[in-house]
Amino acid sequence: MQITIAAVKIPLPLLGDSLNSKLSPSKNSELYSKDVISFMEVDIITPAQKLLARQLTFDIEQRKSLLLTGPNGSGKSSVFRVLRGLWPIASGRIAKPLQRISKETGSGCAVFYVPQRPYTCLGTLRDQIIYPFSRDEAEVMALHLYEKGKLSTEITNILDSCLKNILENVRLNYLLEREGGWDANMNWEDTLSLGEQQRLGMARLFFHKPKFAILDECTNATSVDVEEQLYRFASDMGITFVTSSQRPALIPFHTLELRLIDGEGHWELRAIKQ
Ligand SMILES: Nc1ncnc2c1ncn2[C@@H]1O[C@H](COP(=O)(O)OP(=O)(O)O)[C@@H](O)[C@H]1O
Ligand SMILES: [Mg+2]
Repeated sequence: MQITIAAVKIPLPLLGDSLNSKLSPSKNSELYSKDVISFMEVDIITPAQKLLARQLTFDIEQRKSLLLTGPNGSGKSSVFRVLRGLWPIASGRIAKPLQRISKETGSGCAVFYVPQRPYTCLGTLRDQIIYPFSRDEAEVMALHLYEKGKLSTEITNILDSCLKNILENVRLNYLLEREGGWDANMNWEDTLSLGEQQRLGMARLFFHKPKFAILDECTNATSVDVEEQLYRFASDMGITFVTSSQRPALIPFHTLELRLIDGEGHWELRAIKQ
């Protein structure tokens, strides 16, 4: 497949304005939208007050995934830190869907973050996939999402069969036998390779089935063919991704490319045509 990338907007903001005016978080800078993630003239500034991207502006609509590229240290993960609310919005505004997690239905996670090295929690193999939910919450979630109308006595089986399906899709089904079933309990960080931990991170994403996924180099230790399968599966589920990656194989799964040019403020946004 040949992919051409057409530039639609190349702002090259000039640096040199007084940074001081950008450093106090503006009030009401975070808004809630229904189905879109929007950055409106957002400055990405580190806690050490280095400006990485100036007046970043883009919209990610559902099913129009965005690929974030740029050299190491240019600020890709920092864009995600601001999006996740870990760093304050120094100036500009962000709109994103409300994270509405309902304990009753177990549903409603709008934006789900998968890091390069997913957190492995203390607990069973089952717990690794349903994290951060408890087993009770996950059973309710599986019932709602996958098997509406079943009796409550059947729901543990529903959860485990749903998880087995997911494990097959991330090509980790051999773990069930190797580690001794869903209740196997070990130090997962030591037991699993980074590639396996990353596939488990994607299994977690598939279980939670959010509207948007923030994927920060989270499949870079898997082979390219497994990575493509993971993205195809996520895409078929209707998940819209915001991906940070250097792998060209992932370009076709995205509609927009945001490139952080130099980590000194400059960026460009391009439409990916297929
Ligand atoms: N907590 C922090 N405090 C200060 N500087 C940081 C912090 N986190 C990251 N940085 C700096 O911000 C820059 C961008 O980092 P990062 O967003 O992780 O880059 P990328 O993901 O593109 O490799 C780097 O120079 C990094 O050292
Ligand atoms: Mg990074």
